[in-house]
Amino acid sequence: MRYNSPLDAIGNTPLVKINLPECSGTLYAKLEYFNPGGSVKDRSALFMIEHAERTGKLRPGGTLVDASSGNHGISVAMIGALKGYKVIITVSEKISKEKLETIKAYGAHVVMCPSTQFIEDSASYHSTALRIHKSIPNSFMPDQYFNIINADAHYSLLGPEIWRQTEGKITHFFAAAGTGGTISGVGRYLKEKNPHIKVIAMDSINSFKATSGNPKPYKVEGMGIDFISPVLNYDVIDEFINISDENAFNMLTILARNHALLAGPTSGAVCHGAYTFAQAYMKSDDIGVMIFGDSGRAYLTKQVVAPLPTYTEETLSKVILQNTI
Ligand SMILES: Cc1ncc(COP(=O)(O)O)c(C=O)c1O
Repeated sequence: MRYNSPLDAIGNTPLVKINLPECSGTLYAKLEYFNPGGSVKDRSALFMIEHAERTGKLRPGGTLVDASSGNHGISVAMIGALKGYKVIITVSEKISKEKLETIKAYGAHVVMCPSTQFIEDSASYHSTALRIHKSIPNSFMPDQYFNIINADAHYSLLGPEIWRQTEGKITHFFAAAGTGGTISGVGRYLKEKNPHIKVIAMDSINSFKATSGNPKPYKVEGMGIDFISPVLNYDVIDEFINISDENAFNMLTILARNHALLAGPTSGAVCHGAYTFAQAYMKSDDIGVMIFGDSGRAYLTKQVVAPLPTYTEETLSKVILQNTI
């Protein structure tokens, strides 16, 4: 493939079969970390920004401002670098060091905000981004949490891509819900193509929705329904599965060690949920597609994959003698 710009290289990510033991049906991982910015968010960020350019909401020399758990910020920073916009991203303290540094590497300014229980809190990264946006003339806030164009991106690009790659044979779709853009956009597209396709969303066991309004902290970044979002379309979602941090992270170690896939925490959550679901409900000729939203490389300092020791030659020779590796 040859492209004129990194932005033209967004999409057409690989679909890779994962052979999990005693799994009924076939599960494929859609490896969104093959996008140039490293995540599924490249698709929606570009779609929202180009929509704003077309409708005159964003003009040359403007500033892009948004709140992000990291990946959307990376995508906005990458797109801003190429299109010549200044970029300001507000993040919460939960963000991994790798994602924080990646946003800055593209030349964007980062504002750190405390992790708040509710997005409406005035100190939250979303409220802070809104204030900054209002204070800067000729700025545009994609506002991924409240802009329904976010889901339209996945309806227009990711949904058709999955349909094509499975030759219309997909029976189940699994994705983590953060803003809800991915599950709602792809879900709507697939249901229009075949209303029998099951659309299953993963949520954190500790989110606002999962706890009926009494959220607790959780570690998976990017997944968790913590407010009522217009982007999340309940009409196209058949089921929500609530996933613990522990189950998501354990699956990451299995994926890396047994399947050679170093994926990020939401992928661990999606794979755990899809595997459990497949064992209980999928038939042998069913085909499930799981969104692997980003790479485990963005979280290595958080040790989300069970770490092994680093040896010196001497310590290695001792463990070899003791036959412990
Ligand atoms: C890696 C990853 N996976 C999944 C999601 C959830 O996607 P969406 O916001 O479209 O619901 C996010 C959101 O930030 C993410 O960063």
